[in-house]
Amino acid sequence: MTASMPLSLDVNGERVDADVLPRLNLADFLREHLKLTGTHVGCEHGVCGACTVRFNGEIVRSCLMLAVQAHHGLVETIEGLSDSGEISDLQAAFRDRNALQCGFCTPGILMAAQDLLKQNFLPDREQIREHLSGNYCRCTGYQAIVDAVEITARARKGRAS
Ligand code: FES
Ligand code: FES
Repeated sequence: MTASMPLSLDVNGERVDADVLPRLNLADFLREHLKLTGTHVGCEHGVCGACTVRFNGEIVRSCLMLAVQAHHGLVETIEGLSDSGEISDLQAAFRDRNALQCGFCTPGILMAAQDLLKQNFLPDREQIREHLSGNYCRCTGYQAIVDAVEITARARKGRAS
C-alpha cells in the first residue's frame, strides 16, 4: 500500500495542510479535498484546458500535475480570481456577450484569458484565439468568447489611459 505524503501549500491566499497519496493529481485534490469544484475535469490528459489553474503565477493544467508537486507553492483557482474581483470585468463581458452556454469550459477559459490580458494589454483577435487554443468549448463556437476578451482588453486599456 502506498503511503500518504504531507502537503502544504497556499490556495487562494489560505494555507492548506493535508496528507495525500503521491498519485493524486492537483485537479482532484482541489475538487475532492478542498471542494473547489470550479476547476473542472474533462479529458484528464492535458487537452481540453477545463482544469486550468495558476501555479506560482503561471497557468497550468491541474490534471497533469500531481498535488505533491504543488508542495510549498501558490495555487490560484477560479474561485480565488472571482472572489478577489480580479476578473469581474471579464466575467461581466462573458455574460454580456453570451460567451458561455453550459459553462463547463468557462472557468478554464477565464483563467487562460486573464493570463493573456496580464501579458498583453491589447491582444488582437488572432492572439486571443492563439492563447485560448488549448481550451476547448463545445457550445459557443468561440466567436463570442473572443469578443468578450477583446472588449475587456479595450475597456482595461481605456481605464488605464
Ligand atoms: S481535464 Fe485537464 S486538460 Fe482536460
Ligand atoms: S460553454 Fe459549454 S463547453 Fe463551453
